Amino acid sequence: MSNKFDQIKERESALLCNTYGRYPLAVSRAKGCRLYDLEDNEYLDFLSGIAVCSLGHSRDDLADVMAEQARKLVHVSNLFYQEPQLDLAEKLLSTCAAGKVFFCNSGAEANEGAIKLARRYMRTVRNEDRFEVITLEKSFHGRTLSTLTATGQEGPIKDGFAPLPEGFVTVPFGNVNALRGAINAHTAAIMIEMVQGEGGVRPLPTDYVDDIVALCKENNILLIVDEVQTGLCRTGRFWAHQHYGITPDIFTSAKALANGLPMGAVLCTDEAAKGFAPGSHATTFGGGAVVSAVAARVVDIMLEQGMAERALEMGGFAKEEAEKLMAKHPGKIAGTRGLGLLFGVELSCDGPAVWKGLLEKRVVCNLTQGTILRLVPPLTVEKEDIATFMEVLDTVLDEV
Ligand SMILES: Cc1ncc(COP(=O)(O)O)c(C=O)c1O
Repeated sequence: MSNKFDQIKERESALLCNTYGRYPLAVSRAKGCRLYDLEDNEYLDFLSGIAVCSLGHSRDDLADVMAEQARKLVHVSNLFYQEPQLDLAEKLLSTCAAGKVFFCNSGAEANEGAIKLARRYMRTVRNEDRFEVITLEKSFHGRTLSTLTATGQEGPIKDGFAPLPEGFVTVPFGNVNALRGAINAHTAAIMIEMVQGEGGVRPLPTDYVDDIVALCKENNILLIVDEVQTGLCRTGRFWAHQHYGITPDIFTSAKALANGLPMGAVLCTDEAAKGFAPGSHATTFGGGAVVSAVAARVVDIMLEQGMAERALEMGGFAKEEAEKLMAKHPGKIAGTRGLGLLFGVELSCDGPAVWKGLLEKRVVCNLTQGTILRLVPPLTVEKEDIATFMEVLDTVLDEV
């Protein structure tokens, strides 16, 4: 470990609030599917900033869009009309059945907006006292007070923050009866991820999703889909809910939307959009000219270059390769899971040791729920990169 790295760690502990358990790596630059440390050692990146830099790191074409827009207009606030956000809205709405969009700055803020929209729609359009949102166990929806309450996980995410806001109920994953039993006269919405990312790369079974949609219809409540991690081609469709042939009333996006610049969005049907009115919801920065211009280009590239199809193909290849390792290392890999390039390798050996072994061999990925290696490389990843990842994993599995 370099002296410079130790200095960085010391500076950080003196300067920053102690909220992150960081990986033992300082990244000085990144390009495509590779990260570089302080000594310019190269790392294979199968994390892409937690499913954010889906088109790869530090792209010249996006840097050009950024710079050009920054020279013209960076920020004026949402008191003014701005064309870049309209261009982006048109492109985004062309990818789905939603009718309207609200731009914000992060995944948590998008989910917070979705929850507010559901509540206000029920109160102001339907004139009903419905405010409760039902979420699933192991879900992850963010770290604002409402979204952490919505999150179906316990532990440091919630400890010490009481009192948490009212109006959230979490039910066991996959249990339709529990969901049915949780719906009451105050229920406004059911909120789901199509693939639980943080929760261990768990796709929702199709029949479960059909039941959820049916329950929403029967009870006349809204379906909110959190596509913060799954959206923008990650799972092999532009939006993961499109695998299931469903139309959510509200869904959210963030992460890959501006390929690394902070941006979020709430997308909704024209009907649900009636829940917002001037003054009811706002943000200073959301939909700013620079992020909007970049995100519009991101959407174009994803569509022009068939990133959804690529995610399916590369995800399929990763699954084949991981299954070969599973046969080769009995007792160490229990299975694979996921959709497209939101891909999980379920370990049945020491998860942290495998993750550490990969990092020591300069391969970056993420470990969720203690035993699931979450692979979310840029969608531009090549088959050779996946083969390299699996070769290194093979060696690490020999060693643990
Ligand atoms: C499904 C999901 N929702 C919400 C969030 C929160 O997004 P952000 O960290 O941008 O607030 C995340 C972040 O990992 C996520 O995976």
